[in-house]
Amino acid sequence: MPLPDFIQRDIPLTPLNTFGLPGRAALFVALETPAQLMTLIELPEWQDWSRLVLGGGSNLILTGDFPGLVLQVRMGGRALVAEDADVRQVRAGAGENWHDLVQWTLEQGWPGLENLALIPGTVGAAPVQNIGAYGLEVAERVQGLEAVDLVTGENVRFDRATCRFGYRDSVFKREAVGRYLITSVTFRLPKRWRPMTGYADVAQELETRQIVHPTARDIAEVVIAIRSRKLPDPAQIGNAGSFFKNPVVNATAFADLAARHPDLPHYPQSDGTVKLAAGWLIERCGWKGQRLGPVGVYERQALVLVNCGGARGEDVLRLSGAIRQSVRTEFGIELELEPVVIP
Ligand code: EPU
Repeated sequence: MPLPDFIQRDIPLTPLNTFGLPGRAALFVALETPAQLMTLIELPEWQDWSRLVLGGGSNLILTGDFPGLVLQVRMGGRALVAEDADVRQVRAGAGENWHDLVQWTLEQGWPGLENLALIPGTVGAAPVQNIGAYGLEVAERVQGLEAVDLVTGENVRFDRATCRFGYRDSVFKREAVGRYLITSVTFRLPKRWRPMTGYADVAQELETRQIVHPTARDIAEVVIAIRSRKLPDPAQIGNAGSFFKNPVVNATAFADLAARHPDLPHYPQSDGTVKLAAGWLIERCGWKGQRLGPVGVYERQALVLVNCGGARGEDVLRLSGAIRQSVRTEFGIELELEPVVIP
């Protein structure tokens, strides 16, 4: 049987990942509707294909050609689906651009997502890695999500608990990796809104702007300003945001490190562990602004690796390996990658 004509062959993935890394998809589908996905799942070939679900491509490191089927999620739509005295529930298609959704909710007068303004990527990818910034993780605003089980073809609903969110983590990065394709996400936006200004950079920027009682749109503007200063725009310089997770250590290890490095930035967690700033550790190892071949460490934020032109996946992994080695030697800490390495 011939394959459906919406399946394309040998498609370049370089424009579809924000690091701009080279690689081609053997088979490629721009997924606009659930019906297309059902057609694919019913194909006899389906079970044999290795699959990659792609959102905005802002959190992956492509190490070469992808021999199977790449599914680029493009399902759109956004709407208020329920409302009570406490919350508004807003549902958005997985293919919607994340920042556009944030802006749209603010335009409707629905605060709640403003701290997450300007994060690259799509709505469907946001819960996968539990995006977070400036004191808020998306997990706190997720009511639930809709997905298709790629093995059985069934529609499945996840609530916040079954997403099993963690720091830049969820069930979709762990036990269920590759199993589900998220089609839409429902957010709960609080009606009794209070600005989240606890994060030092946000507080400082509000003070500079002499804003004492910020609106949600003020916060979004402040966050956009801070991000634009510190983080490279992927449209200008290829990158995948924070390349490493901020490491979490136990109290004893922290006491040991703090004795040697009194200026170590640290964030005590509710379970007694302490989160450290990977960017600081990397800068201390002398990597900030340095290059290894075509990949560099961004000069304004050491946690971000950038494509200086013509980088391949292996170049990125070479530099990240060298950085991990330095941090291990200098601090005895294992840095974990934040983006997903494909394949
Ligand atoms: N720092 C340095 N040198 C650097 C970078 C940071 O000394 O080159 C220090 C800063 O001075 C500060 C501390 O490290 O004391 C933390 O830095 P910052 O506030 O800029 O945040 P971050 O830990 O580098 C995290 C998230 C970002 C998020 C920001 C703001 C992770 C891995 N990264 O970065 O998320 O935008 O906080 O909330 O959790 C992402 O995940 O892709 C991402 C960009």
